[in-house]
Amino acid sequence: MTTILITGGHSGIGLAAVRTLAARGIDIVLAGRSLERMRQVADELRATHGVTVTTLTLDVSSLASVRACAAQFRTAIEAGEIDPPDAILCNAGGRFDGEISYSPDGYETTFATNCLGHFLFVELLLPTLPEQSRIVYTTSGTHDPDTMDGKAVGAAVEPDALALANNGRGGRKALSAGKRYSTSKLCTMMYVYELDRRLRRAGSSVASIAFDPGSVPETGFLRGMPKPVQWFSNTSVMKWISKRIGLVTSDVEFSGASLAAIAADPDYANHSGTYFQANDGTLSAVRSARISYDEQRAAKLWDDSRQLVHLTAEEEPAQLR
Ligand SMILES: NC(=O)c1ccc[n+]([C@@H]2O[C@H](COP(=O)([O-])OP(=O)(O)OC[C@H]3O[C@@H](n4cnc5c(N)ncnc54)[C@H](OP(=O)(O)O)[C@@H]3O)[C@@H](O)[C@H]2O)c1
Repeated sequence: MTTILITGGHSGIGLAAVRTLAARGIDIVLAGRSLERMRQVADELRATHGVTVTTLTLDVSSLASVRACAAQFRTAIEAGEIDPPDAILCNAGGRFDGEISYSPDGYETTFATNCLGHFLFVELLLPTLPEQSRIVYTTSGTHDPDTMDGKAVGAAVEPDALALANNGRGGRKALSAGKRYSTSKLCTMMYVYELDRRLRRAGSSVASIAFDPGSVPETGFLRGMPKPVQWFSNTSVMKWISKRIGLVTSDVEFSGASLAAIAADPDYANHSGTYFQANDGTLSAVRSARISYDEQRAAKLWDDSRQLVHLTAEEEPAQLR
């Protein structure tokens, strides 16, 4: 394993993962919109571990930015400046509290950021991936409406890409921020499985894997919440309560190391189509929501997402048709 590309690798779980990967001598490509933070992390990793770190500008909520970033990355690979990535970690994302907002393309921000951006990014970058490489998506246990995690944040609704992209428009009531988030992660789970099915049908050796880091309040994840909520979520009392009521809990170091392991350890090489969860210091393969295994819904989600990102025939890799 030589090179890994990660979105959202300059903070939170992504940063803990890249620190682990760089310590193993793996070169890192950071893709994100916070250039100054990425530069700081790049300097730290180079100084501490002597690895090569490249930074790419990416606003994953903007289709133009995703296309520009993918083009820049492909050009750098063709020029021999970056090695083809052994793994792509689709990790950037979050919940967007407050009034509903829309991406530069006019799609609801949560769905645009957590779903459509990475959907397009993977389509565009698949041809750069060598044999046996991995695509790992950071999902969330909240995607499952039958679990405490799903209930606590707001049960996920139908994974209907067209409705989610236009959420809150046309006189329809907007979903809560929690439901927008959990549903975006349900869609992500379904992308993972649908991608796995398409790759297997095409005889590809690339793996598509899902990862739930568990509830990790010490990252920037709750930044849209009122300050007292952010503070209380990160106290030992709240962590104790979370465990008692049955939430999947973790900490940033363990979840980052788990993401790094899924991306790079030989143990996880043959786990395409698997959902891993970090829970209280243990990383294991678990079942996802019942609905996430619905192949018809997943195929529709895929086709609708393809339309929403205006994927052209030239852009779509043969393996994914
Ligand atoms: N923390 C938890 O409890 C938890 C639980 C389950 C799943 N997750 C998932 O874990 C992943 C990492 O989150 P985290 O907890 O580590 O929180 P975090 O520290 O806030 O990290 C989120 C990362 O996503 C990036 N990002 C957000 N919107 C972006 C955009 N439009 N374009 C490019 N980058 C963007 C952020 O970059 P900026 O600095 O530029 O905003 C940041 O680097 C997310 O997918 C999240 O949904 C978190």
